[in-house]
Amino acid sequence: MLPLIDRPFTQPASLRLPPITFGAGSVAQVVDEVRRTGAARVLVVTDKGVAGAGVAALVRDLLEAGGVATGLYDRVPPEPSVASVEVAYEAWRAGAPHGGAYDAVVGVGGGSSLDSAKGISIRTANAGPVSRYFGVDQLPARGVPYVLLPTTAGTGSEVTAGAIFDDTERQLKAGIVSSRLMAAAAIIDPDLTVSCPAEVTAAAGLDALTHALEAYVAVKANPIADLFALEAVRLVGQHLRAAVARGTDRAARAGQMLASLYGGVTIVAAGTGLCHAMAYPLGSAYHVPHGMANALLLPAVMAYNLPADLPKFARLAEALGEPVAGLSLRAAAERSVEAVRQLSLDVGLPSGLRAVGVPESALEGFVPGALSAARLITNNPRVPTADGVLRAYRESW
Ligand SMILES: [Fe+2]
Repeated sequence: MLPLIDRPFTQPASLRLPPITFGAGSVAQVVDEVRRTGAARVLVVTDKGVAGAGVAALVRDLLEAGGVATGLYDRVPPEPSVASVEVAYEAWRAGAPHGGAYDAVVGVGGGSSLDSAKGISIRTANAGPVSRYFGVDQLPARGVPYVLLPTTAGTGSEVTAGAIFDDTERQLKAGIVSSRLMAAAAIIDPDLTVSCPAEVTAAAGLDALTHALEAYVAVKANPIADLFALEAVRLVGQHLRAAVARGTDRAARAGQMLASLYGGVTIVAAGTGLCHAMAYPLGSAYHVPHGMANALLLPAVMAYNLPADLPKFARLAEALGEPVAGLSLRAAAERSVEAVRQLSLDVGLPSGLRAVGVPESALEGFVPGALSAARLITNNPRVPTADGVLRAYRESW
């Protein structure tokens, strides 16, 4: 075991989380949590895949049996946009089939569905489009309450006070971060991920890993975030391969779901960095799913950041199960990059951006978009230069 090198509290750190229920079977808590908000009619927001797997119907049946009227909106697109939130909000307003608007939202699905639920809530109390509120604490009012149930293990969106939307007009993905964006409850049931396809499981798992890795070495890193980050990384190293190889492995699913929750906590406690900043332009321009974009970029970004904090990267290698005893600090730190590369290969993710349809000629154009994500760039352990970012894109191609 490497000596403890976690940074002491050099700056105040806060941890604001919604009420969390975790565990197999916890989906049944949705009735109590919705009742606690005082809502009598809720709109269940999801996508076609999750609806097709029967997960949204399960949640609706529980709610209806508990005396809560429900409607269904299942048209959330893979990468929700400013425009798609407006469409979803119109469905909320129409309140069909009950007449009149709903009084709460229940998001069921991956990050896209959860962020869309947040987008609807934002719009219930604020004028559109939601792009007006990109940035930190730009949201004037709190919308209707929302309860979130993730069906993938990765996004962490259920516990974060933020939502990411694609602004198709300006061709950029940006986030709304606000203390007024907090779920009334997060219900995290690993059994809801059993129907999640292997490819989505793999990409989501790498997203969770990216949250924890980036938060651990972030400028805003602190002992609270470090605790959750190292454990999230360890859990992904231990469980992701099995969760992808056999989706019905409930122990692996639970391990990944816990990793996802802890990764979400690290976003709240310390924030992410350059990898997320570089991933957003890929999602906007080439619709590379968020988790996949992070997975493809993460090794090169780690290699770029490595000189900024060798001891912490060495600890990450250890958390990923790499044998680091007897290695120099640099050699141990470099093992973390190789470990992530190998994990990506083992779970069947593509080996580079070229494999997901991104032309090499497009890479240079992503750099300004990545560097414009000030909230993430200023939190990166190494101050990113345009050259460095372009090099990392090229290495990931
Ligand atoms: Fe992410």
